[in-house]
Amino acid sequence: MNSPTPPPFAQAPIGLFDSGVGGLSIWRALRQSLPNENLLYLADSQCAPYGDRSPEWIIERTQRMTQLLVDQGCKALVIACNTATLVAAQALRATLSIPIIAIEPAIKPAAALSRSRSVALMATSRTLDSSGLQSLIDRYASDVEIIRIPCPGLADRVEALQLSGPEIEAELRHRLAPALQSQADTLVLGCTHYPFLRATIEAISGSRFHILEPSFAVAAQVHRRLDQANCLNTQTQAGNSAFISSAPMDQAQKVIQALTGLAEPTMLAFPTQTLNTL
Ligand code: DGL
Repeated sequence: MNSPTPPPFAQAPIGLFDSGVGGLSIWRALRQSLPNENLLYLADSQCAPYGDRSPEWIIERTQRMTQLLVDQGCKALVIACNTATLVAAQALRATLSIPIIAIEPAIKPAAALSRSRSVALMATSRTLDSSGLQSLIDRYASDVEIIRIPCPGLADRVEALQLSGPEIEAELRHRLAPALQSQADTLVLGCTHYPFLRATIEAISGSRFHILEPSFAVAAQVHRRLDQANCLNTQTQAGNSAFISSAPMDQAQKVIQALTGLAEPTMLAFPTQTLNTL
């Protein structure tokens, strides 16, 4: 049974990490849903994108990134990257003892929602090729047509803050063409970078799709897991947020500022230079 007094580590931050700034879409939902929690976000922007890397590389790199957050005293970790979850979550869970909440493409809700039984999924090539995705589809969407839309380079555009304008619009139009020509009525954003392109996607597709991304479901799951572990932060003042990036700090701060809307995001130094490369 939970003790009535939360342990001191309740004050510790929740750590989130992504290959870059895409996981800020999860940070946004956590900030809104758990306003009293302290958050520490790690962007491995120097190594983004992960989506075209080998599974071995992704596992080793995400082990280093999560260890970095554990060393910063995080009480729980959110893998705010679909690619890292599908490739490395199992390996991370095997070695870390704090709660790990992972994100995966919203296949299950999409299957429940789709009337046409056809769902389009935008994701990185690594996510689309993963056995983890196949097992999600087998479990929850075996009677649904899944139109896989690989989007190499799209996460890079978000890293470069190209969120609207003719160039990104043309690229999205091209990527979405197979989905627009199909029976799909639901579009899953299977990469945490893509919610930042939602307005442009909607400008192209109108009301054609239900667009699904799981950031608020992840925030609800984080709340449940912290509650179970009796380490919700019960402080009454607003929680703080800090950011670490493997990219040069001023460049990272500018991008984080644009995507979070924070006037001056608190940047912490990337701890060890040796972590910069594998
Ligand atoms: N944000 C990552 C995801 O959710 C992908 C971006 C990348 O390729 O690094 O899959």
